[in-house]
Amino acid sequence: MTGGAGYIGSHAVRALADAGHAVAVIDDLSAGHAEALPGGVPLTRCAIHDGDAVRRVLADHRADAVMHFAAWLDVGESVRKPSEYYQNNVVGTLAVLDAMRAAGVSRFVFSSSCAVYGEPAVVPIVETQDPQPINPYGETKLVIERALPHFARAHGLQWTALRYFNAAGAHPDGTIGEDHAHEIHLIPLAIRAATGGPGLRVFGQDYPTPDGTCQRDYIHVCDLADAHLCALAALERGAPSAAYNIGTGTPHSVTAVIETVSRVVGRPVAWEPAPRRPGDPAVLYASSDRARRDLGWTPRYPDLADIVRHAWKWHSTHPRGYRVSDTNR
Ligand code: UFG
Repeated sequence: MTGGAGYIGSHAVRALADAGHAVAVIDDLSAGHAEALPGGVPLTRCAIHDGDAVRRVLADHRADAVMHFAAWLDVGESVRKPSEYYQNNVVGTLAVLDAMRAAGVSRFVFSSSCAVYGEPAVVPIVETQDPQPINPYGETKLVIERALPHFARAHGLQWTALRYFNAAGAHPDGTIGEDHAHEIHLIPLAIRAATGGPGLRVFGQDYPTPDGTCQRDYIHVCDLADAHLCALAALERGAPSAAYNIGTGTPHSVTAVIETVSRVVGRPVAWEPAPRRPGDPAVLYASSDRARRDLGWTPRYPDLADIVRHAWKWHSTHPRGYRVSDTNR
């Protein structure tokens, strides 16, 4: 697995290990944390661009599949630094695919994003909708999605692309969670604002939604992890390669998230109005019928309150993320 020490990757490592799979992780630790890995999971610290190193890890561990999480993920940054995003998310992924071919590994689960859709014409979003990304981040994910069928035809790659909606929450046991050096996501920022950190800036209050704030589909990070196990099992039984939306299908506004965080934390979220953030679609939520039908995937924690409760458990016990010793281990 690439990016296994990151937020979503580490939850997938845990799910795979809990299900009895042997997992080996490649991560350059530029954003991930070695502490997020369970004991005994081998970590090779290298860039995904280092094709020889990736091929060696695959061969040494006799890998039969690759889950590819390693990527840059900040939409705003992708607008400012497009070259870095193409280098990391496109060139890096091509290096992984070439290393897989060299090592004879043919199953690939790709971390894609709802960002491939851009501003959707219709919600809930179904996979047959024409993808039209509106930022470089979404473009890089779509470029790879479009390359995968070519690799399938030319080299027999079996692939699944999982289009994540808004990953959120943390492992319910509180031992792993979200720890980004530069946090940009709503739920951790709202928790921070409820616990004495900087006030939350609510980007836009004049959207065409009932309360004027953007609506998103927050999906529990453990449910995302489970989707990877379902995707792997489907590939193993010879299911066709395809892209799947992974979301709950329920939209929540920024205001609803603020209210839920206040209730769970037991303190008000300090917030102030701010201008719209460029590139933010008004409403994004998934139809995940295809994943439920073809992958047999069902979210275990579809309620926003559970997602926020688990995020709060992580943040309240790890106020500095992985930088302090983890008392829960
Ligand atoms: N928001 C605020 N204030 C903040 C942060 C976020 O009001 O300080 C709002 C945003 O405007 C948005 C919602 O909260 O309406 C969620 O924002 P996030 O930054 O948490 O998540 P995004 O919806 O922007 O991003 C997610 C994924 C990306 C993916 C993108 C697709 O994190 O990887 O969806 O649009 F590309």
